[in-house]
Amino acid sequence: MAIIRDNSQYYNFPPELEPYRNLIWCPLDYPDPPEVDEEVFFQWIHDCIEKDAGTRAGSVAGAVGPIKFDDPALKRTASYSGKGVYPWNLMHVMRSDIGWRHFGSLRERMPELADYIKHLPIEEFMTISFLNQKPGVDVGLHTDPDIWFGFRFYLINKSGAKIFFQKAKEPSDRRLLNIKEELIVGGDGQEPVIANRIITQPWESVCQDEVIYAKYPRDRFAFHLTATHATHGVESVPEDASHDRVTGFIICRFKVKEYAEILRRSVEKYSDYAVWW
Ligand SMILES: [Fe+2]
Repeated sequence: MAIIRDNSQYYNFPPELEPYRNLIWCPLDYPDPPEVDEEVFFQWIHDCIEKDAGTRAGSVAGAVGPIKFDDPALKRTASYSGKGVYPWNLMHVMRSDIGWRHFGSLRERMPELADYIKHLPIEEFMTISFLNQKPGVDVGLHTDPDIWFGFRFYLINKSGAKIFFQKAKEPSDRRLLNIKEELIVGGDGQEPVIANRIITQPWESVCQDEVIYAKYPRDRFAFHLTATHATHGVESVPEDASHDRVTGFIICRFKVKEYAEILRRSVEKYSDYAVWW
């Protein structure tokens, strides 16, 4: 199984979105996510994670699934900041391989939030997750498996921890990665032995040194994020702030005409906030 997912390689870049190819980050001129009752929200997360325990859906959610937090594979995935801890409590509402697993219960308990997600300018959802940042842990430099760029929203964002970026030295139309997979053909016998070798380089070798911190127009809002032109990380939230930061994480194919129009308005309205390559 390939451990590095690059969804960008399977699609052609939509011409409507060409003007925004170099857009690294921008708050969206789009409605903010609905307010949620935190007690209801975290109880729901708890119940979903319990239901997922030991299943594929629960992979990294509660360290009880097939991938453990201390699994070396997890250290190569997004967000590992080198502190021996995966920085998110992560719950997948839907994912292509597990289906719309928790969307029904989301609709029952928080109908407005379900409605918000359902009506996003999205043609095809591949992943809908909620990422609750663990207290006292920063999120290391990484990119996400978006198709060039993704849609995110801060559902809860009380700590002031900022997302930050380091621009790619050379942007491309593929996911920016510091990891390469190589197939090695070897062996002494008649049959070749094929091995998969993972090579990790420091991010500095693919990114510029400057660290650019995002400015937030308010605490809770939707935003656009690149996977190809920059790497990103997040400052840590305080030790006692386990419920202070939840990001709605969506991997998708956009309704390109609609999304292009949102981006057109967004880069104008938030020109002081937008980060371009
Ligand atoms: Fe990310």
